[in-house]
Amino acid sequence: MPGKGTPGRQARLAVIGGDGIGPEVIAVAADVLAAASHRHGLDLALDWWDLSADRYLRDGVTITGDERDRLVRDYDGALLGALGDPRVPDNAHTRDILLGLRFYADLYVNFRPCKLLIPALSPLRDPDPATDIVFFRENTEGLYTGLGGRFKAGTSEEVATQESLNTYPGVERIVRAAFEHAAATGRGRVTMVDKANALVHEGALWRRVFAEVGAGFPDITQDAMYVDAMAMDLVRRPERYEVVVTSNLFGDILSDLGAQVTGGLGLAPSGNINPGSWALFEPVHGSAPDIAGRGIANPLAAVGCVALALEYLEMHEAAADVDECIAASLRDGVTTPDLGGSAKTTEVGDWMAARLRD
Ligand code: NAD
Ligand code: IPM
Ligand code: MN
Repeated sequence: MPGKGTPGRQARLAVIGGDGIGPEVIAVAADVLAAASHRHGLDLALDWWDLSADRYLRDGVTITGDERDRLVRDYDGALLGALGDPRVPDNAHTRDILLGLRFYADLYVNFRPCKLLIPALSPLRDPDPATDIVFFRENTEGLYTGLGGRFKAGTSEEVATQESLNTYPGVERIVRAAFEHAAATGRGRVTMVDKANALVHEGALWRRVFAEVGAGFPDITQDAMYVDAMAMDLVRRPERYEVVVTSNLFGDILSDLGAQVTGGLGLAPSGNINPGSWALFEPVHGSAPDIAGRGIANPLAAVGCVALALEYLEMHEAAADVDECIAASLRDGVTTPDLGGSAKTTEVGDWMAARLRD
């Protein structure tokens, strides 16, 4: 995984609970991080930030320019629960905070691993236990830049456009990050996903860049897939895929699919990374308003974010311990109802923190 570039024992992280189940799962993540930090003698400072729908509805502010500056300048990175609240139907605060930080800090790698830890957790009939996919989702371009607009809004003649922005440097850096990750971790295949048969302009650019960058990695098997066929194949034979690189929207959609195939959204972490600079870690899942406040949200995706953050900070032993803790909670059945267990969110957290403190 692309890291900070400087190993050390000290770091400062901002912790943003956000909305819905976000604060519930991120509280567990912070506990587990503190326990891992204690066990490994790390010096990790955590500061809590209130960036949320509550704050927006209370103060009319999503995130200020000064807050964005300070987050990126004064911290090595951030842990975020989730953003999204039915009281903010246009998602203004999510765009400003989450997408805002992705753009502002140029977090161009959205690193989304989907590894099948326990075959029984997959809804597939006969899942291959070797299923282990890493999505490299382009995170600063594509259909997410907000380019486009509405004309005659609110009338029966309304026109809406949403443009997909793809630049050579933007595509090149995410494709290169995917190949470099494959080479560094011994993964033998990189698959690029697009829709070049219909979206011909961006498709031509992605295919050219994939071939050009791929030429530097002759030992790695390379294939290009259309996104519709890929969605099908991720269900048919997910074990075939090792590293998948794709554009912003396709990566958003396929990473939910990959998460479900390997155990569900409750298990899937992600990192928004500008290698060597700054990173924001958040579960792939959202704020789950349907279960918020009931104490049953699965905290393992958030805990997986802790492992990714430690890995990014090059605190590898602590990262491996947190990963092992996740595997142990699955093995021992200390899980929330989405995984068939009966534990509460906090009970999973307490069990993990105690295990790390032992
Ligand atoms: P969601 O991921 O919040 O929920 C989808 C389904 O998965 C729900 O049934 C939910 O209960 C379940 N689920 C999700 N996480 C879970 C967990 N940890 N444990 C147990 N069950 C879990 O997706 P949604 O309902 O489409 O979105 C809700 C809100 O979250 C929206 O406002 C959306 O924009 C936002 N969202 C935010 C992020 C983010 O901040 N990173 C990501 C995705 C969605
Ligand atoms: C994600 C989320 C976000 C995205 C939303 C909340 C804007 O779905 O992080 O996967 O689409 O990137
Ligand atoms: Mn998503």
